[in-house]
Amino acid sequence: MQMTGNIILITGGTSDIGRGLAEAFHRFDNQVLIAGRRQSRLDEITEANPGMLAFQLDVRDPVAIEAFAARIRDKVPELNVLVNNAGISRPESLAGRARSLYRARHRRDQHHERAANDGGFAPGTEGEAECGDHHDDLRPRLRAP
Ligand SMILES: NC(=O)c1ccc[n+]([C@@H]2O[C@H](COP(=O)([O-])OP(=O)(O)OC[C@H]3O[C@@H](n4cnc5c(N)ncnc54)[C@H](OP(=O)(O)O)[C@@H]3O)[C@@H](O)[C@H]2O)c1
Repeated sequence: MQMTGNIILITGGTSDIGRGLAEAFHRFDNQVLIAGRRQSRLDEITEANPGMLAFQLDVRDPVAIEAFAARIRDKVPELNVLVNNAGISRPESLAGRARSLYRARHRRDQHHERAANDGGFAPGTEGEAECGDHHDDLRPRLRAP
């Protein structure tokens, strides 16, 4: 990518990674547009970086996205880079995921065991869907009449 002379839209440009990219690209003589929900942050960043443009946008709102896209197409049709950065990361417990996967597998195996004892076909189970695997070859088959 050419590092200068672009028109770059960065969603989530009001903090951390987005703001860092916006200010770096701004320093490299790109026209930078940032978007985010907090107007106070947008104002503060454009004041600190003269020439940068800011737009309030909540990316969870599909109607607002449509209106925003139309506005951007109209205002800067030459836009050539999108950094689709807006979002959040939540802490996640890998141990919790492992436990729920174990339980789902256990439910699936119990279901198949019951079906095998009944001599019938075991349709897919909820546990199986959660496991993300389908052991068709291990399933008891429907008996011929
Ligand atoms: N930091 C990490 O270690 C890490 C790791 C993996 C992935 N990521 C991803 O990288 C991106 C940036 O991370 P970060 O650490 O810089 O996050 P951050 O500091 O929480 O910043 C998130 C940015 O997204 C904006 N935003 C959040 N929800 C929004 C919404 N509904 N509509 C519009 N803007 C929204 C926020 O601005 P407003 O609050 O003003 O709207 C803010 O500018 C995120 O997508 C994150 O999931 C980060």
